[in-house]
Amino acid sequence: MDKQVKLLEDKEELIKLALDISLGKIQEAIRERNQCTIALAGGNTPRPLYESIGTQNLDWDKIHVFWGDERYVAPDHPDSNQRMARQAWLDQVPIPAKNIHPMGTGAGDPKADALSHDAHLQEFFQVSTGEFPSLDLILLGMGGDGHTASLFPHTDALKVSDRLIAVGNKDGQPRLTFTVPFINQARCVVFLVAGADKQAALDQVFAETGDDMNYPSRLIQPQGELQWLLTGVNLPKNWV
Ligand code: 6PG
Repeated sequence: MDKQVKLLEDKEELIKLALDISLGKIQEAIRERNQCTIALAGGNTPRPLYESIGTQNLDWDKIHVFWGDERYVAPDHPDSNQRMARQAWLDQVPIPAKNIHPMGTGAGDPKADALSHDAHLQEFFQVSTGEFPSLDLILLGMGGDGHTASLFPHTDALKVSDRLIAVGNKDGQPRLTFTVPFINQARCVVFLVAGADKQAALDQVFAETGDDMNYPSRLIQPQGELQWLLTGVNLPKNWV
């Protein structure tokens, strides 16, 4: 794993670098594999990045968009990660509808929706249960508790090792999430972390030894590249 950490001056610089990296990975994937698979983070930090990607002139029919996690709400709910990315980016570009792969939340049962998205991904990537496809780029955020995607501290989703999608749990609220082994199969994972409220968790995530169950972002050790883009914090104590 090739791990890099960059401390940016401000949010604007972080988004600019994230855009450069994202466009580079998209173009590299299309050049090398005639297709790019990218999974999006939810939350607030990545929104300006998605708005910037939405202004680009790319080979949209070769780009497939997934989500690393989703709140268990309808796609038109204000909390929906799908809604945010569609408004910020996907509705602004001529990307074919079939290239957008949202996590469905319509079954009224998170387990059922997790299973059906898992099956959809297995079909798309032509893999069997227990096999983990490599996405070209997975964008992640990190919460102040050290969670990422919807892999929250001390939840069952952290232990799922034989599926692509698990049911996450945020204070009793169900979520759908990529699993740790699926994320770790990625060619490139980029964390976008902004704000002093993330400092304590960041130091724990980078600590030589620590409690992975308490700081789930520690579990993200992809076989490919790992890039941390930070702003509004100090470099983690253990990063020299
Ligand atoms: C979500 C995200 C979540 C997010 C972090 C950071 O669905 O909320 O996937 O993991 O990335 O909570 O969120 P901010 O970027 O808003 O701080």
